[in-house]
Parts: sequence; C-alpha cells; structure tokens
Amino acid sequence: MERIPEFYTMYGPELGVPESPEISEVERLMNEFEAHEGQEGKITQRYKEIAEKSKNPIFKFLLQLIVSDEEKHHAVTHAIVSTLKGGLTWTKPEDAIGGISSLGEEKAELVKLTEEFIELEKEGIKEYKKLIKESKGYYQGLFVLLLQSMIHDSEKHAEILEFLRNRLKAA
Ligand SMILES: [Fe+2]
Ligand SMILES: [Fe+2]
Repeated sequence: MERIPEFYTMYGPELGVPESPEISEVERLMNEFEAHEGQEGKITQRYKEIAEKSKNPIFKFLLQLIVSDEEKHHAVTHAIVSTLKGGLTWTKPEDAIGGISSLGEEKAELVKLTEEFIELEKEGIKEYKKLIKESKGYYQGLFVLLLQSMIHDSEKHAEILEFLRNRLKAA
C-alpha cells in the first residue's frame, strides 16, 4: 500500500495538495518535461558541435561553460521525469528523487553540514565581489564576466543548501 504516501511525498503535505491528484494531470506534466528534456538535449548537442569546431579559444571556453550547464539541466529534467514516472507506475526508477525521509541519527549532522556550506558559499560570494573590483579592466571585462557567473552559481548553491536544510529540519 505504497500508493498514498508516495504521492504525499511528491507534493509535500505543506502544500495542502490532495493526496491522490488526477493521474492524467501528472501524466500531462511528465510529458511536458519529457518534451523539454528532448529540446534541451538538442540544444546541448548544437552548442557542443559549435564549440568543437571553433578554433577561437575564448569562444570555445565560454561555450564549454554553457555546455556543462546544459548537461546539468538535462540531468535535472531527467530526474524530474523519472520521479514523476516512478509516482505514476508505483516503481522506483534508478534516477528518481523524492522527499527526504528516514534520516535517523544522521539528521543533526546533515543540518550542521548544510549550515556550514551555506556560510562558505556566502563567504565565497564576498570574495568574488572583491575580486571583481580588482579584475575590472582585464581582457575587456572577461574576468568580471566569469566572476559574475560564479557568483550566480554560488547563489544557486546557497539556495539549494537552504532548501536542503529546511527539508532536513522538517524531516
Ligand atoms: Fe538549458
Ligand atoms: Fe559553490
């Protein structure tokens, strides 16, 4: 009788979503993500081809950065699709992710670790901002661009960690 708890963890009790939403609704969403996954794959392929062909080092380097992000997007979309599929078929596909549960004694340790990481990310952002000031004027703003994109990454990491910490605390 896995049925109800599975949907419950998918949507989260705090959202007040009915425990058993219309299957067709979930299916529709899964198809939408699946289509997006395909799109993402095509775009990544395109970036890769152009990056490989180019002889210009900076063009190559910057496109590679985009390629690795796109590959991550692909993995993320794939995990979403697998998770929805697992919910629909009452199976647990290998790539499926879900709610945090049964942490046991690990919980306190993980909360502490995520809090430390959040602090480190925030310190990293300060450091990057300092470096930006010092790197202006180098290579037509190239370093500023790169530092800026690392700030975005760090902000994203902090956001992910905050989500994790909150989930862990509530688990
Ligand atoms: Fe993308
Ligand atoms: Fe980070």
